[in-house]
Amino acid sequence: MPDMLVKLYELPESTEVFKELENKGYRIIRAMAPNKIKVLDFVRKNFSDYWVSECDVAFSNNPISCIIAVDSNKEIVGFACYETTCKAFFGPIGVKESHRGLNLGKALLLAALQGLKEMGYAYAIIGGAEDAIGFYEKTVNATVIPGSAPGIYKNMLYP
Ligand SMILES: CC(C)(COP(=O)(O)OP(=O)(O)OC[C@H]1O[C@@H](n2cnc3c(N)ncnc32)[C@H](O)[C@@H]1OP(=O)(O)O)[C@@H](O)C(=O)NCCC(=O)NCCS
Repeated sequence: MPDMLVKLYELPESTEVFKELENKGYRIIRAMAPNKIKVLDFVRKNFSDYWVSECDVAFSNNPISCIIAVDSNKEIVGFACYETTCKAFFGPIGVKESHRGLNLGKALLLAALQGLKEMGYAYAIIGGAEDAIGFYEKTVNATVIPGSAPGIYKNMLYP
């Protein structure tokens, strides 16, 4: 799972993506401290403890570096974090399986990358792109960083 590089100075236009999702009843918003347990439960239930740990770190940043997608019932359907395991790093990101293919992932990614851009970075690094390399290539023209696997993740404690 290599890392990938994104040019934050060439981020694609995102207004239309957000508008279309809003018309379908979805909102892409920054996570709030009072919702921390709810967000971490969502990540634990749908993904992994590793991602719960990274997401928890995002709640220690100010502003909180976790973006969530919620439906019209205020149910969480996706999340994305940045500036957690390393500075300028994007990830993790996950959309509930039943809600994939609706552009929620793209919107979460663009909102999080905008957050990194506003912190002053020129480039973002997508940490451990796993099976989603095609997603990052397609949505934000990310490129694989040669020789970056396992990279910073070599000390992770796998089960
Ligand atoms: C990767 C993930 C976040 C994408 O979320 P999503 O909401 O389904 O994606 P979107 O609907 O926003 O997709 C945007 C575009 O990327 C494409 N795409 C989505 N996932 C893709 C993938 N794994 N490989 C290639 N292209 C992909 C879509 O087809 C779509 O293209 P289109 O605009 O031509 O239709 C989601 O599949 C997921 O949660 N996967 C499991 C967790 C994971 O792997 N996270 C990434 C780890 S680094």
